[in-house]
Amino acid sequence: MTIPLVNQAHNTIENYLSEGDIAVDATMGNGFDTLFLAHRVGEGGKVYAFDLQSPPLLTTQKRLNDERLLHRVRLIQDNHNQLSTYLTEDSVSSIRCAMFNLGYLPGSDKTIQTEPASTIKALDAAISLLEKPGIISVLAYTGHDGGRQEAEAVKAWARKLPETAYRVTIQIPKLTKNSPPELILIEALVLKK
Ligand SMILES: C[S@@+](CC[C@H](N)C(=O)[O-])C[C@H]1O[C@@H](n2cnc3c(N)ncnc32)[C@H](O)[C@@H]1O
Repeated sequence: MTIPLVNQAHNTIENYLSEGDIAVDATMGNGFDTLFLAHRVGEGGKVYAFDLQSPPLLTTQKRLNDERLLHRVRLIQDNHNQLSTYLTEDSVSSIRCAMFNLGYLPGSDKTIQTEPASTIKALDAAISLLEKPGIISVLAYTGHDGGRQEAEAVKAWARKLPETAYRVTIQIPKLTKNSPPELILIEALVLKK
């Protein structure tokens, strides 16, 4: 049985996150990734979760509240390309992880979707704050308008990273027929002296 890419992302990220870490959910949506991150960073950690729209904030707020984890998360209704503004505001100078789950909110307005320019700006901000070891995951859907171009833009961005400092892997499910989603993982390596 193939493991869904979102679970594969969680499984890899679990190896990186520990109590007290700072993590970013760049695309909050229904809050499943935010909840996962909130569990993993523990009482001493913090999650910064972004979405352009207010309904995802309310859904995520309730999800976190139900699990008594809301205090571990700062919910931000803004473009994720403003990531560094909010982290600087809270005097946060490094993060252990950032998750991007691109596209639009399922069952919602499909015109509100991630766009290559702001995604790349947010990735630039995330990688400049990323600790070593650390991880950025990007789950890209390629079946909707602009999705393929965005996935290619992310991969082109990742390919420019220095190979000595970052390991980039791309997972594409084999059994999906058309326009499969792609999971792009960027792992910041601890450099040997
Ligand atoms: C595929 S959904 C995310 C799913 C989510 N991770 C979850 O666990 O349910 C993508 C979300 O990104 C949001 N979004 C689109 N462009 C954005 C941007 N530039 N900044 C922040 N959020 C954005 C959409 O509103 C949508 O809710």
